[in-house]
Amino acid sequence: MEQFIQGMPKAELHLHIEGTLEPELMFEIGERNGVSIPFASVDEVRKAYEFTDLQSFLDIYYAGANVLLKEQDFYDMTWAYLQRVHAQNVRHVEIFFDPQTHTDRGVPFETVITGIHRALEDADRQLGISSRIIMCFLRHLSGEAALATLEQALPFKHLIVGVGLDSSEVGHPPSKFTAAFDRARDEGFLTVAHAGEEGPPAYIWEALDLLHAKRIDHGVRCVEDDELVDRLRQERIPLTVCPLSNVKLCVYDRMEDHSLKRLLDAGLCATVNSDDPAYFGGYMNENFLAAQRGLDLTRDEVVTLARNAFEATFLEPARRDALLKELDDYVAAG
Ligand code: HPA
Ligand code: ZN
Repeated sequence: MEQFIQGMPKAELHLHIEGTLEPELMFEIGERNGVSIPFASVDEVRKAYEFTDLQSFLDIYYAGANVLLKEQDFYDMTWAYLQRVHAQNVRHVEIFFDPQTHTDRGVPFETVITGIHRALEDADRQLGISSRIIMCFLRHLSGEAALATLEQALPFKHLIVGVGLDSSEVGHPPSKFTAAFDRARDEGFLTVAHAGEEGPPAYIWEALDLLHAKRIDHGVRCVEDDELVDRLRQERIPLTVCPLSNVKLCVYDRMEDHSLKRLLDAGLCATVNSDDPAYFGGYMNENFLAAQRGLDLTRDEVVTLARNAFEATFLEPARRDALLKELDDYVAAG
């Protein structure tokens, strides 16, 4: 099974690029930029990654992002991620970035998007990995701040396929961002939103009804609401599930308790993703394998998860269908 997962063509749809910053690169970039990190060594950083909930993770994640100042920093971080997932047979990625984490420290929007985009272009040419970029608003900040960030993004609209919503969920419902998402859709952006990770099913309803989300990021708490599960199935709304993240942040005590198997049994379009792999202990293959083992998933279920992801991409149909065929050929050969 491990070998099958390793070789399987995959798409990643829920990945925060700031969450791919491994401690070694964090130190390297921090040193060259003269930014100190509140840890003495790489080992000390890794030891600090004992999280109890989403906020305890976010506090450390935002501290780590402080080392990123120059375009080359964003390039190097993105390129390191792409090389890792290339070795895992990931064929397409749709990555989130959090502009406000950087612009609020005085780093220009252009610096961030240019560095990330340049690495993605190189990955397309050199590694055969296609990609899309999604810009997330930080939900612990105001709706007005999200609108201001959207304005800053407009000159780079051609590089950004959609907008999303991340950071501290509870107490910051999707409804807080109705105006920003209305404006974003008027400008032609697709929309997604984190919902139902720590927050209640009601936040998933809001993400669908108010933000017109095309995909729900996490969404694992939908299983608490039968009517919502019916809707997600009928409208075939993809859920970008992140198994290791959910266990690391104590959404579930053990992988055996994760709702992923129930989502598949209910006929939902569930996918497997890594969220913040430098912090949660694994990239795509590790997430697939941990979920497969913890939930005793069959090979067919593993393939369904991979197929769902290709179907849920924001790709043009020709590339999407070519990737689906790669997967079918792989399964037929195995
Ligand atoms: N949830 C909310 N915000 C985030 C996450 C997450 O899993 N990762 C990075 N920012
Ligand atoms: Zn996330």
